[in-house]
Amino acid sequence: MTVVVREVRPEDEARWHKLWADYLAFYGVSLAPDITEATWRRVFDPASTIFMRVAEVDGEVRGFALCLTHEGTWIRELECYLEDLFVDESARGQGVGRALLDDLVSLCKTKGWARLYWHTEEGNATARKLYDSYIESDGLIRYRIKF
Ligand SMILES: CC(C)(COP(=O)(O)OP(=O)(O)OC[C@H]1O[C@@H](n2cnc3c(N)ncnc32)[C@H](O)[C@@H]1OP(=O)(O)O)[C@@H](O)C(=O)NCCC(=O)NCCS
Repeated sequence: MTVVVREVRPEDEARWHKLWADYLAFYGVSLAPDITEATWRRVFDPASTIFMRVAEVDGEVRGFALCLTHEGTWIRELECYLEDLFVDESARGQGVGRALLDDLVSLCKTKGWARLYWHTEEGNATARKLYDSYIESDGLIRYRIKF
């Protein structure tokens, strides 16, 4: 099994839509289609800070990481927020998620970004086992008001 992580390409659209739908289903979320379309468009828009890395397993896209960079008040350089990480159910447990995270760590170092961070649900034991192998949680709790 060969895992290759790379920048997303326009020809990945159909495959990504399927993975995105499975990701939303995993969270039990239904998003308005225009939001999904806007997310897809923004990863190719140079004015947007959103970007996507995809993992190909034996030539087929089986996972993705959607991220964005932003400024911070405690840092000089940008930092990178990993918003969405997903691996196709049939490809899990084979190092694809780790390959996507390793790729982001390298990318941050190459670009000179100050930090990489992400959130997960407290009860997402599978994801947390992977994340705990990189760094301990910083213990922050999120507050979010939706408008
Ligand atoms: C979390 C997720 C991305 C991990 O992807 P993955 O490709 O299965 O992960 P990997 O194969 O790289 O596993 C890495 C580590 O995670 C742990 N892990 C993976 N699958 C596991 C499982 N089924 N049970 C227990 N631990 C598991 C192992 O500790 C593994 O460590 P190892 O590399 O030493 O073997 C994937 O399970 C997923 O997409 N889940 C649904 C969406 C989700 O939860 N996204 C994260 C939201 S924050």
